[in-house]
Amino acid sequence: MVYLSFAAELKSHGTLLIDIIAGARPNFMKIAPIIHALKDNQAKGGKLRYRLVHTGQHYDEKMSGSFFQQLNIPSPDVNLESGSGTQAEQTGRIMVRYEKLLLEKPCDLTLVVGDVTSTMACSIAAKKLNIQVAHVEAGIRSKDLTMPEEINRMVTDAITDHFFTTTEDAGKNLEHLGVSSSAIHFVGNTMIDTLLKNRSRFIQPSIWAEADLTEGEYMVLTLHRPANVDEEQSLKALIQEIVEHSRSVPLIFPIHPRTKKVFERIGIQHDNLYLVEPLSYLEFNYLVERSKGVITDSGGITEETTVMGVPCMTLRNNTERPETCTIGTNELLGTALGVVGPALEKLFKGEWKQGGIPALWDGKAAERIVAVLDSLNA
Ligand code: UD1
Repeated sequence: MVYLSFAAELKSHGTLLIDIIAGARPNFMKIAPIIHALKDNQAKGGKLRYRLVHTGQHYDEKMSGSFFQQLNIPSPDVNLESGSGTQAEQTGRIMVRYEKLLLEKPCDLTLVVGDVTSTMACSIAAKKLNIQVAHVEAGIRSKDLTMPEEINRMVTDAITDHFFTTTEDAGKNLEHLGVSSSAIHFVGNTMIDTLLKNRSRFIQPSIWAEADLTEGEYMVLTLHRPANVDEEQSLKALIQEIVEHSRSVPLIFPIHPRTKKVFERIGIQHDNLYLVEPLSYLEFNYLVERSKGVITDSGGITEETTVMGVPCMTLRNNTERPETCTIGTNELLGTALGVVGPALEKLFKGEWKQGGIPALWDGKAAERIVAVLDSLNA
């Protein structure tokens, strides 16, 4: 474990010391606005203090470092350097290391975001030490327990004290589970806070010139779910289907490390398929905003495409973010072969639905979260 600095350790009478947990790529855009709002609170004489704990689940510059730099997230106070491993190895390592930190230097409240392994592991370690847990993006459910993220959501919400939700439906899910409505705070979406704040700063990636891209005339592809990428033959068939129906528009595929390992074994190449390294936040969203559409198996990207009004095809059988389909531009295609062709036809014919934006996805979620945290300390 690396103690990088302990600026946040200045725990004095009347303050509430909050551990902000960040572990994997989709966490970083969710914590950035919360940290900025906490700093504002402190600058205005508020009593909230934070310590930023990076679990080290994602550790590459491309999967982690560039997000800190671009989103102006301060360097972590602590890095647990937990690294990769199986689900249990990763969970266990994070829990042991975070518990050690809490025993040596306790906090008053642990704030976790999203649904990654670090979210669940740190919640358990904190709660077993009787430390309060706050969960940002609480209550969403896919009901698909084959995905580790769903288990992470269920376990985290089972021991959370303060639930911050992105939609009213998420709050209803929690109420059905017996959570008191007074513990549920519908605040909006911190990932969208980051998107709206940075939209004017997006950066053109080098692939734009290399592939001679034109606005609205290329697509973005992302795939990393084990169900889609771990089995070589089905990944190959899926890519072939996408390429066949893509009318030769460039397909830009920023490739996740997990997917890259399988790709290297199967060696697929097509003239209009451009594999690129994982892109930074500002570069990735530059591409998405100007694309004809996105094909993905991510959850977070479906929220970003909804807000940017970009057509999105999700290669999953379920989603924990149904509002991206009912209100937004997302359509759940499933994972069976043959589903992509008709969807691409609809897109090329200009028949994709127009979407709207869910309530409170307005760039102010983190402010609302900090106001609630402040009231806990009153
Ligand atoms: C994790 C999250 C997932 C999220 C995704 C975004 C869980 C259960 N899953 O999945 O919800 O959508 O992050 O990326 O937490 N690796 C690197 N460099 C890194 C990090 C990982 O090469 O910086 C490699 C690992 O060695 C491993 C693979 O990527 O082989 C998967 O990493 P892991 O953190 O286990 O899960 P993700 O698939 O990234």
